[in-house]
Amino acid sequence: MTFTPYDRPVRAAFIGLGRIYDLNARGYVDNPDAEVVALVDPSEERREERQADWPQAATFASAAELAASGIEVDAAEVLLPIPLHTDGVLEMLGYGWHVNLQKPMCNDLLDAAKANDRVLRVMENYIFYEPLRKLKAAVEAGEIGAVSGYHMKMVGSGNGGWHVPWSSFEWQLEQIKRGRGINVFDDGWHKLATALWLFGPIREVRAWIGNTHVGPGIDLDAPATIMWEHDNGVRGVWDITLAMDMYLRSDYYTSDERWEVTGNNGYVRVNRCTSRAIQEPSLELYRDGEMRGYHALDDDWASSFRDSGRHWLRWLHTGEGPLLWSAKEAVDVLRFALAVYASSAAGGTGVNPAQVI
Ligand SMILES: NC(=O)c1ccc[n+]([C@@H]2O[C@H](COP(=O)([O-])OP(=O)(O)OC[C@H]3O[C@@H](n4cnc5c(N)ncnc54)[C@H](O)[C@@H]3O)[C@@H](O)[C@H]2O)c1
Repeated sequence: MTFTPYDRPVRAAFIGLGRIYDLNARGYVDNPDAEVVALVDPSEERREERQADWPQAATFASAAELAASGIEVDAAEVLLPIPLHTDGVLEMLGYGWHVNLQKPMCNDLLDAAKANDRVLRVMENYIFYEPLRKLKAAVEAGEIGAVSGYHMKMVGSGNGGWHVPWSSFEWQLEQIKRGRGINVFDDGWHKLATALWLFGPIREVRAWIGNTHVGPGIDLDAPATIMWEHDNGVRGVWDITLAMDMYLRSDYYTSDERWEVTGNNGYVRVNRCTSRAIQEPSLELYRDGEMRGYHALDDDWASSFRDSGRHWLRWLHTGEGPLLWSAKEAVDVLRFALAVYASSAAGGTGVNPAQVI
């Protein structure tokens, strides 16, 4: 498709005004690249609450009502429950709007093939998280020597963090019933995305996804251990564990995360992301007997949403830089996730993501 940047602020609409709206809205605040013209959510309560942020915006109970209203929209910030992503995105693209979608873009490859000639971006806030960007830059600058391998860690807890309304969990349960768990596929999408972003295409995946029953009708996809090898020979491993009662201080969700890349001469580690359980620098780099701690990074997880949103709006306004991320890159993440499921189902055998169907 051809895309011409706008020579005026982008007219944007929020579709879905739930929990994560609070962070996605940050990319739009005081941003001369955008003008928020509409807010859409079937919940009157949410519309009223969010209207206070954008008094000039019109509100609607559905995207169809907005489309029929005559209000011109260039781009939609789509914050819908995951089960509505595929139909919702097709609907918005059909109205001629560009779309900034949340992950996971969809559950299956068949659905991923349906986008048309508008820009579909699948927003990936983790690749805008400053400590992770610094980690990538340090690796690429050779600060730890040639890369030997890396690991990621994620611990899920139910103790601490912001309030998540039960309605935000309901559609997660629907996803779980479809075999798309909250750890591996929803939150995990970001971890898989960072692996591709850091070290490129993957040729083999081996996985072992467990199950933990945490309440009536609620099963979580942990413990899980996932391993892979990139085309460049670098291997990664990611472990997911649960510690339901472990208190994690967090302004957001209670996910404790780490990324550690080992090089021939040292290592570099991001110590946290979504939550901030203990007081320590968010990034540390060890080399030659010395540890360097980074104490002045913008390591608030919310800032990664702000910067991802700003990047998108700048891109629409000026065409500057890569999209971060395109639908094609999101399909690579989806293939990676599907390879994880295929491997686990086959008892942990190696699966090439390029060959999943
Ligand atoms: N990037 C991240 O780290 C991150 C974190 C959390 C959630 N998310 C993603 O954000 C999306 C939303 O998650 P959430 O936690 O805010 O969910 P939520 O359930 O809190 O909010 C969804 C909102 O969509 C509204 N909605 C439902 N049907 C609608 C329709 N047809 N049209 C318009 N609005 C409709 C609901 O009323 C609700 O207000 C999901 O895709 C999720 O995966 C991303």
